[in-house]
Amino acid sequence: MEHDYVVVGSGLFGAVFAQQAREAGKSVLVIERRDHVGGNCWSYDCPETGINVHAYGTHIFHCSSDEIWQYVNRFTGLNRYRHRVLTTHRDRVYSMPINLGTVNAFYGVSLRPFEVESFLESKRENITMPRNLEEKAISLIGRDLYEAFVKGYTAKQWGCDPCELPASIINRLPVRVSYEDSYFDDRYQGIPLEGYGRMFERMLEGIPVELGVDFFDDREHWMRHAKKVVYTGPLDRFFDYEHGRLSWRSVRFERTRVDIDDYQGTSVMNYADGDVPYTRIHEPKHLHPERRSRTKGKTVVIREYSHVDDDQPYYPVNFPSDQDKLARYQAQQSEHPNVIFGGRLAQYRYLDMHQVIGAALRAAARELSS
Ligand code: FDA
Repeated sequence: MEHDYVVVGSGLFGAVFAQQAREAGKSVLVIERRDHVGGNCWSYDCPETGINVHAYGTHIFHCSSDEIWQYVNRFTGLNRYRHRVLTTHRDRVYSMPINLGTVNAFYGVSLRPFEVESFLESKRENITMPRNLEEKAISLIGRDLYEAFVKGYTAKQWGCDPCELPASIINRLPVRVSYEDSYFDDRYQGIPLEGYGRMFERMLEGIPVELGVDFFDDREHWMRHAKKVVYTGPLDRFFDYEHGRLSWRSVRFERTRVDIDDYQGTSVMNYADGDVPYTRIHEPKHLHPERRSRTKGKTVVIREYSHVDDDQPYYPVNFPSDQDKLARYQAQQSEHPNVIFGGRLAQYRYLDMHQVIGAALRAAARELSS
C-alpha cells in the first residue's frame, strides 16, 4: 500500500477530505480525470480580460454555519458579493424569486404586503388533485404568473412540456410579500477573492494530485494502491451500471468575450420565455465588484443551455425509477467497506457547496477518529 487514502475526484468533497486526512498525518493521493482541480466549482482568471470565470456555472458561496465559514476562510478571503437574480420575460426584467416588486410590475398594480395573499388567491385555480407540474403550479400561483415565469423556463430546463412532469416535483412556489430580492438568506455569503481555483490549490497544498487520470482506466490498481478509496464520482458508474443509469440533466455553456464594460448589469439573468433557447446568461465580472477598475471596457458573457449529456451530470432528475435504482446501488455500498462514497455524484443529490463541505468534514472526522 502506497497511501492511506486515494481520493477519486478533486471537487469539494474530495479536496476537503484530502485536506483533513493530510492534516491528521495520513498519506493521501488525489486523482482527477479533468485537467484541473476543483470539480464544478472551479474558476480561473481569463488571461485576456482578468475576469474570474466560473467554468461550470455561477457559484456563490453561502452558509449559516460558523464552522464551515471559518473552514473556508482558512484557504481564501471572500468578497462581500450579495446574490440577486433577475429574469427577462417578453423584454421586461423582473426580480426572482417572485416578490412584491415582481407581482406589482407584472400586473401594473401597487399592492402592499398584506394585500398580496388575497390578490393571489383571486388568481389561483382550484385544482384539488393536480395531475402534473403545470396544474400544480397554477393551483399555487395562478395561470398568469405560471405562464410568464415557470412554463417556458421549466420546459427548457427539463426538455419537455411541464404537463409531462409529475406534480410532485414542486411542493411550493414561494412568493415573497416584500421587496426583498436577496437570493440567499444565509448569515455568510461571498466569492473567493482570488477565485475558486486558487482556493482549491491552497486546500490541496502538499498533497500529490494526478490530473487527467480516470479511476476506471485502472480501477484494480487504485484499489490496491491505498488502504481506502474515497470515491466522489457517479454512483451508478462505480457499480458498472448494473441496475441501469441514474438520469441527470446536463448544461452546456457558450462563452463569448465582448468589448464593452457591462453587458447586462448583473451576474445572472434568467430567460423565462420558451422561445429563447438558453436558460440564463452569466456575466462573471459582476461577482467581483472589487476588481472593476482592473477589468474596464471588456466582459465575458456565458449563455447556459440545458440538455442531456450522460457524461456531464449536473442536476439529478430523480424520477421514481431513479429512486428505485438509487436504493439498489446504496444497498450495495456496504459490500465495499474500504470505499468511502461522498459528494453530489456518489449521493445522486443536488448539494450546495456548504452542504458538501459539511458532509466531507463529518466523513473525515468519523474516519480519522476510528
Ligand atoms: P464535483 O462534481 O464538483 O467533483 C467531483 C469530481 O470528481 C470532479 O472533478 C470529477 O471530474 C471527478 N471525477 C468523477 N469521476 C471520476 C473518475 N472516474 N476518476 C477521476 N475523477 C473523477 N452550490 C453553491 O453552494 N452555490 C452556487 O451558487 C452553486 N451554483 C451551481 C451552479 C450549477 C450550474 C450547478 C450544477 C451546481 C451549483 N452548485 C452551487 C453546487 C456545486 O457545484 C456542488 O455543491 C459541488 O460542485 C459539489 O462538489 P463535489 O465534490 O460533490 O462534486
